[in-house]
Amino acid sequence: MDHSIQIINHGVPETLMKNMMDIAKEFFEMPVEDRVCLYSEDPRQDVRVSTSFNVTKDEVFEWKDYLRHPCHPLEEFINSWPQKPALYRDVAGKYCKEIRGLVLRLLAAISEALGQDSDYLNTIFGKHSQTMHVNYYPACPNPDLTLGVAPHSDTRGITVLTQGDVSGLQVLKDGKWVAVEPIPNAFVVNVADQIQVVSNGRFKSVMHRAVTNTSTARISIPTFYGPSLDTSIAPAASMVDKEHPALYREYKFEEYMKASWSKGVKVRSILDRFKIEISP
Ligand code: OGA
Ligand code: NI
Repeated sequence: MDHSIQIINHGVPETLMKNMMDIAKEFFEMPVEDRVCLYSEDPRQDVRVSTSFNVTKDEVFEWKDYLRHPCHPLEEFINSWPQKPALYRDVAGKYCKEIRGLVLRLLAAISEALGQDSDYLNTIFGKHSQTMHVNYYPACPNPDLTLGVAPHSDTRGITVLTQGDVSGLQVLKDGKWVAVEPIPNAFVVNVADQIQVVSNGRFKSVMHRAVTNTSTARISIPTFYGPSLDTSIAPAASMVDKEHPALYREYKFEEYMKASWSKGVKVRSILDRFKIEISP
């Protein structure tokens, strides 16, 4: 089963979702001089504005600009976030806190679905990591020629995304791309690679992409939530038995992220590199 859902009644205030979307729009509508100071092409640079995925490596470019920054622990990172628009830190700070609360509730529910205590994922995620992207897809004169984001699965544990009211996100379902049409005030929740590993393949990391649009610019704001780099990730003991041998080896999450930083846009997923080869 693939796991991509949209949730409503999630407890995150609607006005805060709207304020976050508005300030994201303001950020990308500022004169470019106000953003360029944050520009970097290094995927390891935590706080940065960039374009496409890896400008130095990829031959295929995505029709996208983005801002990204870490969000947790908030006090550690908020002073490195953009200073313009003036309210950015205030609004995004409140938004990140609310999203973290929502993710912690989702992690508790998933832990129970894995036959573990509700605290299970909270514990194995160690100090946790939370990174937010603000993606800006300008209106594209020829959407047939380029994608907003090439097909990929997200590398962390779980992704919570808001996409305003312009559609573009698609998930791969039974070999077909299916649009995730915007529902007002809903969040899209996608399972990402680390929960696929911990669940020993029972929860599937969702293959997805974003298409562009000729008439309207689109903003999406995904939060990537997962373990801290120093944790060890492996299939949960409750998911492994004789009929369900471990599909993945244990690894340090940092090893996974290093592989992901150097993969380039044409590689859809690096999960296979951590698979245990089962001889026939
Ligand atoms: C991403 C992503 C999809 C979207 O940034 O990882 O999948 O709808 N974005 O913008
Ligand atoms: Ni994604």
